[in-house]
Amino acid sequence: MLEVENLVSGYGRTNILHAISLSVETGERMAILGRNGVGKSTLLKSLIGTVRPKSGSVRLDGQEISHLAAHERARSGIAYVPQGRDIFPTLSVLDNLRVSGFGRSVRARASMLDDVLTQFPILRDKRSAQGSSLSGGQQQILALARALMSDPKVLLLDEPSEGIQPSTVDQIATAIREMNVQRGMTIVLVEQNLEFAAAACDHALIIDKGEVVLKLRTADALTNRELQHQYLGV
Ligand SMILES: Nc1ncnc2c1ncn2[C@@H]1O[C@H](COP(=O)(O)OP(=O)(O)OP(=O)(O)O)[C@@H](O)[C@H]1O
Ligand SMILES: [Mg+2]
Repeated sequence: MLEVENLVSGYGRTNILHAISLSVETGERMAILGRNGVGKSTLLKSLIGTVRPKSGSVRLDGQEISHLAAHERARSGIAYVPQGRDIFPTLSVLDNLRVSGFGRSVRARASMLDDVLTQFPILRDKRSAQGSSLSGGQQQILALARALMSDPKVLLLDEPSEGIQPSTVDQIATAIREMNVQRGMTIVLVEQNLEFAAAACDHALIIDKGEVVLKLRTADALTNRELQHQYLGV
């Protein structure tokens, strides 16, 4: 279980998250929705440790991790697919995958590499291609596969549908559900694309003004125009 309690986080003197609290059960798929600039990426960065929270608590399976460095949090089982993907443009697809999964045995990494290449055949086809030569959707799949290389307990995804074609978006929603169902991976998906969030996750938390204001079923969010207008800017 991932538990965030009274987390305060931001940049310099500016707080973006004001004592935010939320919890995601083990094996749950949870979307986090909110309008532009509300602090969704800041929340994920505070969870993985690239932004250091100012106060509050982050617990993974009961263990406090908010004081840990990013690499230590990764080792405790959190993986992250950043907004904008951030793959290594000059490395091959295989080398992009090989940079992940440190701390695991050579055999476990080889086996996971084989698993992700089987799950995403496009990456096997393009294994020697440079990252930069991939389409946006293919780069997103590479970023997702790279996160899987560490066999995480919790996978955090930051707007994976942003700027990619509908066919790839569907493929990513399917991959998210499969990872959750087949491997029991807990999913936290930050999104602005409500249709995609609903395809990937049954439940959502809505963030506004640095706090969680609502938890609801994504199916209900899809039909609630007023809520979409108020909190999602659509
Ligand atoms: N490195 C930074 N330094 C200073 N301010 C920042 C930094 N990163 C983000 N911010 C500010 O923090 C606020 C929240 O940004 P954040 O990226 O978390 O929002 P978001 O909800 O992910 O937005 P989007 O939907 O556009 O991705 C914004 O006002 C942003 O300008
Ligand atoms: Mg963001």
